[in-house]
Amino acid sequence: MSCASPCTTPKQVAIPADDGITPEMYRKIDVIVAAHKDKPGSLIPVLQKSQEVCGYLPHSVQRHIAKGMKISPSVVFGVATFYSFFTLVPRGKHVIRVCLGTACYVKRSEEIIDKLKGELGIKVGEITQDGKYSLEAVRCLGACGLAPVVVVGQDTYGDVAATKVMEIVKKYE
Ligand code: FES
Repeated sequence: MSCASPCTTPKQVAIPADDGITPEMYRKIDVIVAAHKDKPGSLIPVLQKSQEVCGYLPHSVQRHIAKGMKISPSVVFGVATFYSFFTLVPRGKHVIRVCLGTACYVKRSEEIIDKLKGELGIKVGEITQDGKYSLEAVRCLGACGLAPVVVVGQDTYGDVAATKVMEIVKKYE
C-alpha cells in the first residue's frame, strides 16, 4: 500500500530563547563551511554536518551558514525545512516518530501517540525533562504495509499496539 500524503516533519515547537549554540560550535561550523562552500550542491552536507555539531538547526545557525556560504538565509531555511532529517528544534537523545499517515491513522496510531504522551509526560514536539526522548508525529514513513508504524532513532517498528509501545521505548533506556 502506498501513501499519497507528503512526508513532512511537524514544526510546531517554539524555538527556545537561548538556543544553546556555543562559540565553539560556530567555529566548527566555520570549518565545515570553509571545506564545502565552493563545491556545487554543498548546502545539504553543510547542514547535515552542522546539525551533527549542534544537534539541530536553529535560525541563528542557518543565518551563520548563509553568511559563510554567501547565499540567502531563505535558501538555507528552504532546504532545512524541506528535508525531514533536518530539525529546527532541539531533539531528545532518542527521537520517537509515530506515523499519522492515512494507513497508520486508520490503524489507530493516534492511540499510540496518546499513550506516549501520557507515559512520557510530553506533548508532540517536546523533549522529556531528562533529554532522553522527543516525540514527533509524521506523515507517512514509507512503510504503510507495516502500519501502524513507530520509528525510534533509526529503528522501525511495525504493527505496533498502543498497549505495547512502552515496551519498545524502554529498550532505549
Ligand atoms: S501511512 Fe505510510 S507508513 Fe504510515
